[in-house]
Amino acid sequence: MDTNALFKIGYGLYVLTAGVNEDDVKSGLFKVKDNGCIINTVMQVTSDPCMIAIAVNKKNYTNEMIQRTKKFNISTLSEGTGFDIFKRFGYQSGRDLDKFEGFNNIKRSPNGVLYISENTNSFMSAYVKQEVDLGTHTMFIAQLVEAQCLSEIPTVTYDYYQKNIKPKPEKTEKKGWRCKICNYIYEGEDLPSDFICPWCKHGAADFERV
Ligand SMILES: Cc1cc2nc3c(=O)[nH]c(=O)nc-3n(C[C@H](O)[C@H](O)[C@H](O)COP(=O)(O)O)c2cc1C
Repeated sequence: MDTNALFKIGYGLYVLTAGVNEDDVKSGLFKVKDNGCIINTVMQVTSDPCMIAIAVNKKNYTNEMIQRTKKFNISTLSEGTGFDIFKRFGYQSGRDLDKFEGFNNIKRSPNGVLYISENTNSFMSAYVKQEVDLGTHTMFIAQLVEAQCLSEIPTVTYDYYQKNIKPKPEKTEKKGWRCKICNYIYEGEDLPSDFICPWCKHGAADFERV
C-alpha cells in the first residue's frame, strides 16, 4: 500500500482551539486555560443543521479539553502562514507549555474560546453533539453556532504546506526513518509499528525509509 496516496486528499489545515474555565486551572485539572493544535481532519457533514466532523488524537491535550467542555473553534489557515504557527501549535503540547504566551494574533469568540485572527481566512465555533471512539483518535461531530469569513486568501492545503511552508529536509547522513509530516528522523533499522513521532505525534504509517 502506498500511503503517499493519502497526501493527495485535498485537506485544508486548521488550528483547533479549546478552553476550560478558571476553576479547572485553579483546581489543577488543567495546566492552561486555552490551548490549540494543528489538525487537517475537518469536514462539513450536514448543512441543516450545519455540522462538522473533526478527528483528534486522544494524546492531544486539546482532545482532553474538548472532552471536558464539549466546545471548540476552528481557524482556517490561509496561504502566507509561516512555519512558526505550525511549530507553535503542531509540534508541542499544551501539557508542557502555554502555547498562547507571547502570541497576540487571537480573539475570543462568544463561546469563550480563542481563535486565530491573523493568517486565517475564517473561523467557526461548534458544540459537540456526538463522539465516536476511533481507537487512537476521537471523532467529534459538532454543530456550528458561529462562522465568519476573515479574508479571501486561499486556504493552506496539505499539498501547499508540504511544498511551500514545511522546511525542506536537511541533507543527512543519518539512516533510519523520516516522518513525512515534520521530517523528524528515527535512527534505527526497524521502526516499531506503534511508533509515534515525538514532534508531530503522527504514527509509523507516515514514516519513510532514509
Ligand atoms: C501538518 C500537521 C497536521 C496535523 N494534523 C492532525 C490531525 O488531523 N489530528 C490530530 O489529532 N493531530 C494532528 N496534528 C498533530 C497535533 O497538532 C500535535 O500533536 C500537537 O502538538 C498537539 O498539541 P496538544 O497536545 O496541545 O493538543 C498535526 C500536526 C501537523 C504539523
